[in-house]
Amino acid sequence: MNTLQRHKVIAVTGGASGIGLAICRRFGSVGFRVAIIDMNTDEASCQASNLRSLGIEAASFTCDVGSENQCVQTINAVIDTFDGIDILVNNAGITQRSAFTETQTSVYRKVMDVNFFGALYCTKAAIKSLIDRRGVIVVTSSHAGYAPLLGRTGYSASKHALHGLFESLRAEIKNKGVHVMMVCPGFTKTNLQTRALDGDGSVSHHPQSKVGKEDTAENVANAVFQGVIKRKNLLVLTPTGKFTYFLTRLAPGLYERIMAKMLKDELIRHT
Ligand SMILES: NC(=O)c1ccc[n+]([C@@H]2O[C@H](COP(=O)([O-])OP(=O)(O)OC[C@H]3O[C@@H](n4cnc5c(N)ncnc54)[C@H](OP(=O)(O)O)[C@@H]3O)[C@@H](O)[C@H]2O)c1
Repeated sequence: MNTLQRHKVIAVTGGASGIGLAICRRFGSVGFRVAIIDMNTDEASCQASNLRSLGIEAASFTCDVGSENQCVQTINAVIDTFDGIDILVNNAGITQRSAFTETQTSVYRKVMDVNFFGALYCTKAAIKSLIDRRGVIVVTSSHAGYAPLLGRTGYSASKHALHGLFESLRAEIKNKGVHVMMVCPGFTKTNLQTRALDGDGSVSHHPQSKVGKEDTAENVANAVFQGVIKRKNLLVLTPTGKFTYFLTRLAPGLYERIMAKMLKDELIRHT
């Protein structure tokens, strides 16, 4: 990171926990000014204070990204505070684990509101600043963004939708100097699964099937940092993720059979 890149501004949704927080720390450690955007006011404020104690310029902003009004107000507040945004990380997300037949449509709406519309609202609100600064949009997707995933129809739909939106947007705004990078982490040790929605919208107590070794949020953040420097279009993380990526393209039917077998327990009710 050269001195010109110091003092640049990174705004991270879902920045108070897990992958988002690790991204705030990673970029903050090389001189970025950090805007933590999160629904959890206390945690966001506490984490911003932790960053400041490390010498990082940081501020927290409370926002439910599922609300367009809140996204507009929050992004404007970030721009007022830091004079602009160089990197917007659309990272806030929730997950769902339940069979399609047992999932209420309101759960799909909730997952789309946060994972898809949250990213759309924040990007819409920040786009002028990002164009002015020839910035970068980072989108935290998942392996479920390019491959099917049993028991997570809503989550997978929201992540696939992000690829449709942001890969098309990349083509639209490339000539304005703005880059878009999609990030697909593998299973990563964070709080995401502790708040997974069940089919009725309550928090799921269904045990999660894990495939491959869990990654750390710090590894993901480091890969995002390197990816932004190299202006990568797509980051597929973990060996399982890379294998999945190629298998879904080369032999989608085979992938579907392997995946359905490995995750079959997801559809068994544990009451
Ligand atoms: N962990 C994995 O295995 C994994 C794998 C692939 C992709 N991802 C993606 O990585 C991203 C980050 O997740 P994570 O694993 O780091 O989970 P996490 O630790 O739960 O962090 C997610 C953050 O987003 C916040 N958030 C949730 N809903 C929000 C809303 N409506 N408005 C604003 N903030 C909201 C959460 O706040 P609260 O604390 O208030 O809920 C939390 O701070 C997600 O997009 C997820 O889909 C994760």
